[in-house]
Amino acid sequence: MKIVVCKDYEEMSQKGKDFIISELKRDSSLALGGATGNTPKRLYELLAQSGFDFSERKIWFLDEYFGKMSYYQYAVNFLHNNFPQGRGFRLENIHIPQGIFYWNNQTAHSETLSQILLENKNDYHMLGPEVSIYAEAMNGLLKQIRRSNRNYEHSLPVNRLQILGIGVEGHVGFNEKGTRKTSLTHLTLLDESTLTANESDFADGIRTKYALTQGIQSIMRAKYAVLFASGEKKAEAVHGFLLGDNSASALRNHENLAVFLTRDILARFTDKDKIKLRHSYFIVDFAT
Ligand code: PGA
Repeated sequence: MKIVVCKDYEEMSQKGKDFIISELKRDSSLALGGATGNTPKRLYELLAQSGFDFSERKIWFLDEYFGKMSYYQYAVNFLHNNFPQGRGFRLENIHIPQGIFYWNNQTAHSETLSQILLENKNDYHMLGPEVSIYAEAMNGLLKQIRRSNRNYEHSLPVNRLQILGIGVEGHVGFNEKGTRKTSLTHLTLLDESTLTANESDFADGIRTKYALTQGIQSIMRAKYAVLFASGEKKAEAVHGFLLGDNSASALRNHENLAVFLTRDILARFTDKDKIKLRHSYFIVDFAT
């Protein structure tokens, strides 16, 4: 693992953009894996301004809410609309887990799913926050969700560079606390801390407790991964990821992982932690 320490958010986004473009230039068939959230927004702007042509590239996003299309809109805004002269991702090349399902001819929202889970306990079991739906599930909505997640998992190309953020409690994608390291694309019950951190996503009045997400194993299978974290509010999550145990820490075993951090995060580490980091990882420090 390589850790790149940057002065601030802007420098992190610039260095990240240079890194991603150089990887894409080396391999014309390399796809991208997209992350949502605030962290990669500047990165996406810089990719748009770079002049690099993304029109033949494909991108697979990490996650989507259940019963809302918010991240699909996000993906289209940042990676299709934002790029000049048709150089952005074509709509058919932007893939995101399906979040909209129909039940009784209506969009199924969070309350409908909660009710169905309550009434169909023989169709699934909980593995931590993961709703693991059985192949033999009888309920039509649960069957649709299972099928869609499996199709998404099978469509993910190994030859992709997966962009990642990290949540304040240490999730990658929506792999909440307690998610199995072997998880594939699945339905998850969102953590209270995630719902609070993402409150602005519910400004349209449509709330949800559930999401569809690539699993930890789905992310591990990507040939390259690059994780971005900016600001001291991420210090604890990054500490858990690099030196402790949280959902993201499984990624420490990824063979081609680059991590771009702002220096205020490392400033919260003890001297002992920093020595451990220098012993364990290759660190490029632009911030000193
Ligand atoms: P953020 O979200 O980039 O908005 O902080 C990261 C995440 O929750 O994965």
